[in-house]
Amino acid sequence: MARDLFVTQLRTAVWVEQALADEVLPDLIDRVGDPELARRLERHLGETREHVRVVRAVLHERAGSIEPLESPALLGLLAEHERLPESDLAHCAAAAASEHLELALYESLASTAEALGEEAVGLALRELMEQESFALEELSRSRAKLLAEAYARP
Ligand SMILES: [Fe+2]
Repeated sequence: MARDLFVTQLRTAVWVEQALADEVLPDLIDRVGDPELARRLERHLGETREHVRVVRAVLHERAGSIEPLESPALLGLLAEHERLPESDLAHCAAAAASEHLELALYESLASTAEALGEEAVGLALRELMEQESFALEELSRSRAKLLAEAYARP
């Protein structure tokens, strides 16, 4: 049961990371105007490409050549992003929302791996979580700067 949960969430994590690496983050980077926010997203795109490799390898080890699973949660977040008025603050909010989704998936996956006695996998997933958390902190810094610029009083 816990193993089925693990594999299903892992397949979802592979799909999410792949979508972020191939489409979502490159699209965001094209759309943002703030160079610092773009640089932060670029940096996380590099990390995300590595995450794809790591989660694919863990999935392959557990379940062979099983396909990734589409994430309705990520698709929902993308739809929410598109209905926001176009701005760097909106892009920043969208990027942060996807980090929260990834963190929720990895928290469950890492805890499940540990409960199944797969310490090395748990550790590898917690390393990914650290990078997701760092990306989220960087986005908070960008948000604070963008808000200060947008609402600065003369
Ligand atoms: Fe991420």
